[in-house]
Amino acid sequence: MKKILVTRKLLKENEAKLKEHFNVILNEKDEIYSPEKIIELSKGCDGILSSVLDKFDANLIQKLDSSVKVIANYAVGFGNIDIKAARTKNISVTNTPEVLDDATADLTILLMLGASRKAYLGRQAAEKQDWQWSCDFLLGKQMSNKRLGILGMGRIGRAVAKRARGFNMEIHYHNRNRLPKDLEQGAIYHDKIEDLMKHSDFLSINCPATKETEKLINKNTIASLPNKAVVANAARGDIIDDDAMIEALKSGKVFALGLDVYNGEPKIHPDYLKLENIFLMPHLGSATKRTRWDMGYRATDNLLMFFQGKKPQDLVN
Ligand code: DGY
Repeated sequence: MKKILVTRKLLKENEAKLKEHFNVILNEKDEIYSPEKIIELSKGCDGILSSVLDKFDANLIQKLDSSVKVIANYAVGFGNIDIKAARTKNISVTNTPEVLDDATADLTILLMLGASRKAYLGRQAAEKQDWQWSCDFLLGKQMSNKRLGILGMGRIGRAVAKRARGFNMEIHYHNRNRLPKDLEQGAIYHDKIEDLMKHSDFLSINCPATKETEKLINKNTIASLPNKAVVANAARGDIIDDDAMIEALKSGKVFALGLDVYNGEPKIHPDYLKLENIFLMPHLGSATKRTRWDMGYRATDNLLMFFQGKKPQDLVN
């Protein structure tokens, strides 16, 4: 049996499935392993099942035992793995696309609604039990019938668009490439991000984290948004320049912000916490049992295919 290091504790059904096929080293206590610990534990392993918090940079990859031939990331995003370094060391990398589209798109809608309808202040007021209904109490911004800009119209972006059509929103998007008409479903393409921003009463960030998307939402791009736009980020923290966003939230240029992901998470820029016009979640985009099961099974299938000598369905390098 091939030997696999599983860096985080998975749902028990996923661990049981892995045990059927592999000799696994599990992380019973769900510790966050240091790079040194990963190097040590993976000695003699054929593969690693990793998670978003494991930073497989060039240095770590280079020091991995030559027995390690595959890293199956338990996430659709793989910005935590230096793909070039993995390729150089002849290590295959896989991810878990598709299975988390619905859960992440649901949460994106929650972020937009939570931010625009002041869910944070609402909860605080309800808890204190000292509020009075009144015509102008905690007035939010309505999502229905507005323009939604989607930055990154991949599977998750399209799942967000599908839900937003239920709110009668007009969908705009920016992507590296324009989608075919059957995938666009009437969404309006902008080949420049500034043009997308101009059409985004609501902006949903759903693109991968890459060198090109790092701080893509910055002072300049934010300036192109309509006044009092609502922004939601369910992708990765590094896509937003936090200082520029905080400035825009303070000035009211951005009416409200919904965040599920953070630069350097679990840390969060302290100034965000001083603001009331934001709605925060702790990276829960894919956090439903159904989705986490499917992510675990998908990562397992990728490992199985790899060791059967087939091309894994979700090979990213
Ligand atoms: C992903 O799959 O990239 C998610 O962010 C992990 O929850």
